[in-house]
Amino acid sequence: MACANGSHILIVDDEAGILRGLSDLFGTEGFIVHAEQTLPGALRVADDYDLDIAIVDIRLKHAVSGTALLAALKERDPELPVLMITGYGSVESAVEAMHLGAADYILKPIDNSHILDKVRKHIELVRLKHDNLYLHGELREKYCASDIVTADPDMLHQLQVADRIKQSNAPVLLCGESGTGKEIMARYIHFTSNRKDRPFVCVNCAALSESLLLSELFGHEKGAFTGAFEKRLGKFELADTGTLFLDEIGDMSLEVQAKLLRVLEQSYFERLGGSRSVSVDIRIISATNKPVAQLVKEGKVRADLYYRINVVQLMLPPLRQRRTDIPLLADHFIRLYNRRYNRKVMGVSDAVMRAWMAYHWPGNVRELQNVVNQGVLLSASDQIELLGVEYPGGSSQAQPKRLFDPQRDESLQSFVKQAAGEIEKASIEQVLKESSFNQSKAAAILRMTRKTLAKKIQEYHIPR
Ligand SMILES: Nc1ncnc2c1ncn2[C@@H]1O[C@H](COP(=O)(O)OP(=O)(O)OP(=O)(O)O)[C@@H](O)[C@H]1O
Ligand SMILES: [Mg+2]
Repeated sequence: MACANGSHILIVDDEAGILRGLSDLFGTEGFIVHAEQTLPGALRVADDYDLDIAIVDIRLKHAVSGTALLAALKERDPELPVLMITGYGSVESAVEAMHLGAADYILKPIDNSHILDKVRKHIELVRLKHDNLYLHGELREKYCASDIVTADPDMLHQLQVADRIKQSNAPVLLCGESGTGKEIMARYIHFTSNRKDRPFVCVNCAALSESLLLSELFGHEKGAFTGAFEKRLGKFELADTGTLFLDEIGDMSLEVQAKLLRVLEQSYFERLGGSRSVSVDIRIISATNKPVAQLVKEGKVRADLYYRINVVQLMLPPLRQRRTDIPLLADHFIRLYNRRYNRKVMGVSDAVMRAWMAYHWPGNVRELQNVVNQGVLLSASDQIELLGVEYPGGSSQAQPKRLFDPQRDESLQSFVKQAAGEIEKASIEQVLKESSFNQSKAAAILRMTRKTLAKKIQEYHIPR
């Protein structure tokens, strides 16, 4: 059941006795009560506070009916639940009020526990609607450690750190090249933390213009700018009690950064065009594929913001620095796409896997995922035979593109041997370079013994 603590309730009744009784009841239950006897007073409250619920007597004196107040409240905030209080004689007008948007009605004489239950239920309904709307949009999935596939010591260390800090509210900054798994890590942290049943809301800071980003983050009041026909909640409010994932944080303008910093420092903000403060309880996870410390030096990212979001930093290594993950991830994605396309691909041909092991994967895990997707979809046998990537030799197939040329090549056999040699040499050179010419490491990546590698280095005259 929803917690009433701090919920704003407006109670409107022209009978002072009822008003006092209800105010006491909700006050002792932890609500912030705004009690009013007249329509203008009620509307002033609605303008000044972010109400969670309203209770309105259907028969107000002073010439205006409760239904007129209902209409005015709904016009200001179509989502506000309004409960109508009605006497036995006026059930019909209560039904009419329901047609006009009242959430429910309560018969006099008022039963305290009944009215409390109804109010709590409607507050909870709003919250559920709120969460569902946005959680569905964000493709909510449960995450567990096994969803992040890795056997790389560096990645495992990052996961350990994530596990250690996930229950705290400490801001996390995820760094890593595009496609290294920043978003999957953010989801992992959220969905395995104690906020897992609360919203996980993403904002891509690079995809929006400055003004759009501001209204996306902070929301706006009706009429805040041309085109703001309705009040709109920003992602800060939507993520309340959950996690806000700020993606591509390096692309925010300095003005947005200043506003963001203020919210992070104070835990409250105002919607655009509004003056009321909205307070939020949010865990911030941000991500960037740019060298953010460098951006700070260049004055593109505010240093004070950087210090605030960078309490815990996780650095996700590029795929070319954790090549042992390539076969593991390939298996993982083969299973995924077998399910999706109803295929029965068992694995990857040796030739293709060797080439993948040597490839530099500029698009990282996402690129591998796409290549496997294509491979599973197009494979004619139970193995992926399609290389799917631009090989350093310039071909996207496992075989070199340069075809047999009788003028140049002695025989098909010698042509194939030479082409294979070129691919082997290029692969070894690349892996050596990436492992800083550490031959043991390179040999492990290439899945050959150190001795064989040393022989090939000599054979191909690869400089050391
Ligand atoms: N370790 C992993 N195990 C399983 N899947 C992974 C792993 N890392 C990444 N992925 C998958 O690879 C794809 C890219 O990952 P993600 O979107 O998290 O990367 P990113 O760093 O946010 O990329 P970008 O900078 O381009 O936004 C996603 O489909 C994600 O599920
Ligand atoms: Mg991402």
